[in-house]
Amino acid sequence: MTKAHIITYGCQMNEYDSHLVESQLVSLGLDMVDNVDAADFVLVNTCAVRGKPVDKVRTVLGDLRKQKHSRGLVVGMMGCLAQLEEGQQIARKFEVDVLLGTGSLLDIGEALSSNGRFWNLAFKDEIHDHIPPPPQGKLQAHLTIMRGCDHHCTYCIVPTTRGPQVSRTPESILRELHMQLEAGVQEVTLLGQNVNAYGIDQGRRVPGIPSFAELLRLVGDTGVKRIKFTTSHPMNFTEDVVLAMRDTPAVCDFIHLPVQSGSSRVLRRMAREYSRETYLGHVETIKKHLPNAVLSTDIIVGFPGETEADFQETLSLYDEVGYDSAFMFIYSARPGTPSYRHFEDLPREVKTERLQRLIEKQKEWSARKNAAYVGRHVEVLLRGDAYDANFLEGHTRGNHPIVVPKAVGATGAGIYTARIEHATPHTMYGKLLGLDGQVLPELPRFNPEAAALSAPLPML
Ligand code: 5AD
Ligand code: SF4
Repeated sequence: MTKAHIITYGCQMNEYDSHLVESQLVSLGLDMVDNVDAADFVLVNTCAVRGKPVDKVRTVLGDLRKQKHSRGLVVGMMGCLAQLEEGQQIARKFEVDVLLGTGSLLDIGEALSSNGRFWNLAFKDEIHDHIPPPPQGKLQAHLTIMRGCDHHCTYCIVPTTRGPQVSRTPESILRELHMQLEAGVQEVTLLGQNVNAYGIDQGRRVPGIPSFAELLRLVGDTGVKRIKFTTSHPMNFTEDVVLAMRDTPAVCDFIHLPVQSGSSRVLRRMAREYSRETYLGHVETIKKHLPNAVLSTDIIVGFPGETEADFQETLSLYDEVGYDSAFMFIYSARPGTPSYRHFEDLPREVKTERLQRLIEKQKEWSARKNAAYVGRHVEVLLRGDAYDANFLEGHTRGNHPIVVPKAVGATGAGIYTARIEHATPHTMYGKLLGLDGQVLPELPRFNPEAAALSAPLPML
């Protein structure tokens, strides 16, 4: 095998894990290629959080099995689904050669050197201290600060797929961050299932590991320009994190705080360990210290037993908080979770109709919140070309997607200032400003070479 390709589903944790495995493959001498047809080894990094991502994995493994038979493609599967019996059944059906659980990613080398089927589902600690080489030329990087989850939300499969929480030491995190900084990274996103519980594994504070608030300050001291983090759990949310955000200029005023439901009754059935009132108290704390905070959330609609009155509470909570954005999901009954065993699913039509109403609410709020930025100057991190190469795309500090036309002196990735000209519920559109605050002249459209020809102006 010489050429490998990884297909990644699921969350940012999975993207990080794919990067980790990719770095192993490269160090073993394989070339990474950007499509399945050019590869002789394809690894599918899977997600098991809802039924849909599982269906996608079935479809893709079905296609890969054909290539396995037609041209001897070697097929691998890793990630959350791989860790479950459900996933292993799928792997058997589609004749997967290599199967790595969420805790055995470093076995990829052994897997490739074994001729034949190699499956490993053991949980090993060493992943924590294995530092993948930083992504060259990328301004943004993920950094996993902990693995696993100690909560037992009744709908969620993650505690089963990723095991109990294990925090990484600050030394190991900072070592990796320094390598990222040397490679030019300007924005780091700290990742964990529940970053607020960093350093408190299985209910105990781990000696030598600081609190999440202290970690934020340490990360801020490295000089990285922008710090984001996800995901926060309201149960472990504390004011000291908000204060660390306020005091650390690099930390972006952006908080993703999944609420899941606005009804305390449903939250109890979900075993979320907080009530509507506690959640709203956290939001008040955030708004008190960070009046410009951008708030986003996750909401599940149609949890078993959710009544119309419960759902109305979710809608009213949305109005009380005034979220900037939200990820909204229809409840998906996952085998192996407590809610699957104990509760009966609601009819599909009830769930989809509620989702529609929630989406309407989210669009109204996002439109209103985003419109308030029109005319304002914001710092943007542009990753590179947008879909149309005359434009650049990236994110604001508040995590809003933004698109701007290329301008003289600003034709590629970087951190710039933009003036917001127009906003939709999902995306902002702006113009780039020079150091003097004036709009930079736009490059003539449909002439990508102009970028190379234009006289260089000072970049922001
Ligand atoms: N059904 C629907 N959504 C789910 N999530 C987790 N488990 C389920 C499920 N069984 C959502 C939660 C979580 C996000 C990552 O996925 O909102 O915060
Ligand atoms: Fe990420 Fe959860 Fe999906 Fe696993 S199951 S990939 S932790 S979203």
